[in-house]
Amino acid sequence: MTKEKEAWGSRVGLILAMAGNAVGLGNFLRFPAQAVQNGGGAFMIPYLICFLLMGIPLLFVEWSSGRFGGKFGHHSTPFILDAMDKRKFWKYIGVFGIFTNVAVASYYCYLESWTLSWVWHSIAGSFSGKTQLEVAEFFGNYVGLSSIEPIIFWIICLVLNTWILSKGLSGGVEKAAKIGMPLLLIFGAFLAFKAITLKEGVHGAINPGTLGLNFLWTPQFESIWSIKVWLAAAGQVFFTLSLGMGSIQCYASYIKKKDDIALNAMSAGWMNGFVEIVLGSAILIPIAIGYLGIDQVVEMTKSGGLGLGFKTLPYLFEQWGGLLAIAAGVAWFGLLFFAGVTSSLAMGTPVMGFLQDEFGWKRGNSALAFGVIVFLLGLPTVVFFKYGVFDEYDYWAGTVSLVVFALFEIILFGWVFGMDKGWKEITSGADIKVPNIFKFIIKFVTPLLLGFVFIMSLPEIWDKITNKALYETLAKTTDLTEIANLETTILFVNISRAGLLLLWLSIAYLVYYAYKKRIKEGRFTS
Ligand code: PHE
Repeated sequence: MTKEKEAWGSRVGLILAMAGNAVGLGNFLRFPAQAVQNGGGAFMIPYLICFLLMGIPLLFVEWSSGRFGGKFGHHSTPFILDAMDKRKFWKYIGVFGIFTNVAVASYYCYLESWTLSWVWHSIAGSFSGKTQLEVAEFFGNYVGLSSIEPIIFWIICLVLNTWILSKGLSGGVEKAAKIGMPLLLIFGAFLAFKAITLKEGVHGAINPGTLGLNFLWTPQFESIWSIKVWLAAAGQVFFTLSLGMGSIQCYASYIKKKDDIALNAMSAGWMNGFVEIVLGSAILIPIAIGYLGIDQVVEMTKSGGLGLGFKTLPYLFEQWGGLLAIAAGVAWFGLLFFAGVTSSLAMGTPVMGFLQDEFGWKRGNSALAFGVIVFLLGLPTVVFFKYGVFDEYDYWAGTVSLVVFALFEIILFGWVFGMDKGWKEITSGADIKVPNIFKFIIKFVTPLLLGFVFIMSLPEIWDKITNKALYETLAKTTDLTEIANLETTILFVNISRAGLLLLWLSIAYLVYYAYKKRIKEGRFTS
């Protein structure tokens, strides 16, 4: 067992770290793109319902499971789940809670490094005087690795994460959140103000900023009947709250037995909600629609929010001219950077917790191990970005696995561990009265909804497995280089999947090994 005892330094620090965990690139890039793709205002009702009926209950479940596991000295999901029931297989379900973090970090840290690089280029004036096409080409060259620069920024980012993690929770993660979160809010408020007050005809805008806001905020009730919109909403709620990942459980496992979790969970959860719904919808979309109109923005977000965020926005900021353009660039990419770092730190802690608990590793070495693993697994996403490796990681680890893990954990919590014990865990030490209705919601509503989401996603998952979309495009293509390109993409996509499977199995093996080791050493558990 490790001698360095980890703990949170203060309540504010814990809440900010948890909010920092949740507030990430998902709030500013993924959310706006999802909202636009699913009809703007049509997205919001399913989103809010998923937030209340899946997000909030799962926050209670993950925070309380984490604190519960922490009582036995467990800080990663394999052994946190193991402590909740005597059946042995739960620890293998817990493997997801390490797997997801490692796999998501492997592409997320690369994205994070772009933000750092774009801050630098905003200051250096790399985007000034360029046409929209040239700024887009700048991006294309960057991810196409036409120079060594992306690798350098990526490594800087990994080193920074490793260094902060090696300082521990109160000395590293908490400090990063205390600096990053307030700055993020200030940058966000500045940009939202600029976006909302954007005027038609000023600085080249063709629409007022409010057009985009109205597009997002005019409710459309018929969307309640679209399964696709519901699935997208549920997926977004998961990703943004970092649910089904194992990182919340890990952070919560360092909370003292008697300390509150109910109010803390709500504070961090609603803070994320605020940042997502208010700031997340007030920057990217209003500015983009202000300059390009709704139709073009809908077209451009088809492949997510990265294009708008990294190719279009830097160009549009330039239209504001001079210092304002620089300030906007620094604020936008700086905000993304802080959002990203405080999230990737959260992905590191479960891995470190596992190595420290099970193998007695020191904090510094565990942090280094995380950095090295992310470097090795991230390398394919960096080098083969254009062959879809990045998207493949995102789909399996950042989308499917969250739902699978959440489904298992809520069944464990509500039905196996049992709602009576579970309710005690949620309410013990609570500084608020948790409404009793959540007992019912956690036991019945959330698992049913989750099961529904999972079953309804199966056809899409199957299409992915069989590479349906890729083969369809291939069948339609006549251009020989295009065909060669698609074939390589299919190859890389298949290899990435095999790699992810191998990663999952390797972690499962380590869990098995750790379990045997515990038995041998007579260190058993709950
Ligand atoms: N919630 C983060 C976001 O919105 C992503 C994240 C995933 C954070 C996994 C921690 C763990 O970007």
